[in-house]
Amino acid sequence: MFFKKKQTGQDIQSADMRKVVQDTGLSHIAFIMDGNGRWATGRGLPREAGHSVGVKTFKKTVTLCRDYGIQTVTTYAFSTENWKRPENEIREIMRLLDTYIKEARDDNEKNRIRYIFLGDKAGLDPRIQEKCTFLEDLTHDNPLTLNIALNYGGRSEITQACNALIAKGKAVTEEELSSQLYTRESPDPDLIVRTGGEYRLSNFLLWQAAYAELYFTECLWPDFDETELRRAILEFSGRKRRFGGV
Ligand code: FPP
Repeated sequence: MFFKKKQTGQDIQSADMRKVVQDTGLSHIAFIMDGNGRWATGRGLPREAGHSVGVKTFKKTVTLCRDYGIQTVTTYAFSTENWKRPENEIREIMRLLDTYIKEARDDNEKNRIRYIFLGDKAGLDPRIQEKCTFLEDLTHDNPLTLNIALNYGGRSEITQACNALIAKGKAVTEEELSSQLYTRESPDPDLIVRTGGEYRLSNFLLWQAAYAELYFTECLWPDFDETELRRAILEFSGRKRRFGGV
């Protein structure tokens, strides 16, 4: 008797991953990149060092998602609650973002990524606001969409969408509300991956997550690698998505 070996992520080729992504209709994957601080303190380093490695991990993850044929990637870079962090940590996250945006601009021809920032830009430093808007405009026609949630909160996103409809004198329907969300240009996420061993959404994509598959791993974000990504996708491919049906 033969047993089909359970695939773990290590024993599968990139081409096979493309097929898994295609066959399962995984078009939008979202990440809650948790565990940067613990990764750093566990090594006797300042928390900021974890964020710095976290950005590198993020860049590699986006490249892998693209190689697998995933069309939309979303990440939670900075929440409306993250302002409660120590000032120097916030400053460092914003500095990393600034560098990331600059590199994204310089690499536009090579990467062909469309950047969209989700969140309340008005709460950001005006120089960052300007750079975000510039990058969004520059990359508007690129094929792979990368949503970066920055000064983002799911509840405030839904609230502002309702208020926008009220201001227009429109009735609040699911369709109208979706059209007012920061994510209006993306399909809902198929899969949300959270690293760092916490089992919650933390105010991320609350409306959009209605039928998303959730995947949690103990792996701290800076350690999230190709094997971990494949594990998440393979787990997703084994889920039965019923969308409320049977
Ligand atoms: C969560 O780990 C991480 C964050 C709140 C910040 C993530 C931001 C970056 C990696 C920099 C900017 C991002 C991009 C995409 C350019 P944590 O600090 O809560 O970790 P902990 O739970 O171990 O404390």
